[in-house]
Amino acid sequence: MSPITFVVNGKSRTVSVAPDTPLLWVLRDTLGLTGTKFGCGIAQCGACTVHLDGVATRTCVLPVSAVAGKRVTTIEGLSTNRSHAVQKAWIEEDVPQCGYCQSGQIMAAAALLAKNPHPSDQDIDAAMTNICRCGTYQRIRAAIHRVAQGA
Ligand code: FES
Ligand code: FES
Repeated sequence: MSPITFVVNGKSRTVSVAPDTPLLWVLRDTLGLTGTKFGCGIAQCGACTVHLDGVATRTCVLPVSAVAGKRVTTIEGLSTNRSHAVQKAWIEEDVPQCGYCQSGQIMAAAALLAKNPHPSDQDIDAAMTNICRCGTYQRIRAAIHRVAQGA
């Protein structure tokens, strides 16, 4: 079990865990960053989405050894005070219902908008494959358009 070092929310962190431990459990259990959620555990739902070197990535099946030397951003690191444009739009559009899927949704949306600041509905549908059992998809789409419009 050799130490693995990577950057989490701007800070270098070193963990000593089995290298095949999913990143999700290192974030939640080892580092105490519980904003990233466990849903399906098989890379299907997106609840566990973070940014890995800026790319939306599902962490429930990603061994922590794969992120050595890389940069991870979780929902806690998107902003310290909900000031990120995506977080603000989510609040304005009242997107969450139960909220369980929403950190993953926000991280997926933030990665999409960083790459494509004015996504079409088709772009949104293609990029936002996270599942929401509460059915907030229309409001997610509205919030993404709100960010694109700079509202
Ligand atoms: S918990 Fe990772 S995709 Fe569902
Ligand atoms: S808001 Fe409840 S699962 Fe998405």
